Amino acid sequence: MMRAAPADRPPVLAILSALAEEQAGLVEQLQDAQCISHAGRTFWQGRLGGLAVVLALSRIGKVAAATTSVALIERFGASRIVFTGVAGGVGPGVQVGDVVVGTGYVQHDLDASPLFPRYQIPLTGQTVLNADAVLADALVAACAAGLQGLRHAGRLPVVHQGLIASGDRFVNGQEETRRIVQSLRQHGHEPLAVEMEGAAVAQVCCDYGLPFAAVRTISDRADDSAHVDFPAFVRDVASVYAQRIVTALLQVSQPRL
Ligand code: ADE
Repeated sequence: MMRAAPADRPPVLAILSALAEEQAGLVEQLQDAQCISHAGRTFWQGRLGGLAVVLALSRIGKVAAATTSVALIERFGASRIVFTGVAGGVGPGVQVGDVVVGTGYVQHDLDASPLFPRYQIPLTGQTVLNADAVLADALVAACAAGLQGLRHAGRLPVVHQGLIASGDRFVNGQEETRRIVQSLRQHGHEPLAVEMEGAAVAQVCCDYGLPFAAVRTISDRADDSAHVDFPAFVRDVASVYAQRIVTALLQVSQPRL
């Protein structure tokens, strides 16, 4: 993804969280905090570790996340967006408690065929949108630093990098997952995780020429029990991971942000 020339405005890092539990700790740390209501959403402006930031909840689904992203850019001057959230692991070896840093994003429910090839974003010629390599590398480094010493179910979290597939469905069935993954594979795409917003945020950032990257904690395997322990996982695991990763990102990678 192209890097924007930020000549005309000061850099502002947008930190977009999928879940209120992930955002809470960041809001607590925010200096010079200002809370602003806009487009039916709450945005927090301020500084974290000396860096100008704006915090928001993405809301759930591609349209909601796209609206939030546009507001971050147009109204709050975001010059790059980092996203934290949870996802269902669908790649081999992508287990609950691992994290996936997206290197590319595809919409698994996008199908304008036969007018356009399956999965292609109409009128763009693009199918997989790449994350910004600098931001994604910074997230990988932040995961390594921030998750040190943490275990889930007795296992150290593995940091995966690869394709994330987004769609307006909470995927909770083995058969449904098999269908989504098989179809993507037939078209040359190998997804590691499914979620509901990333590709939409990537598309908005691509349209504006702004860097985007995301990290997802794997909360489930997108199977029949995907929803069962979801709230407890978010509260006890994903929110801790997100807070640690973002804190590490601001400490370790600040010069690159
Ligand atoms: N987010 C977390 N788990 C998910 C799943 N199984 N499907 C879609 N989004 C998710």
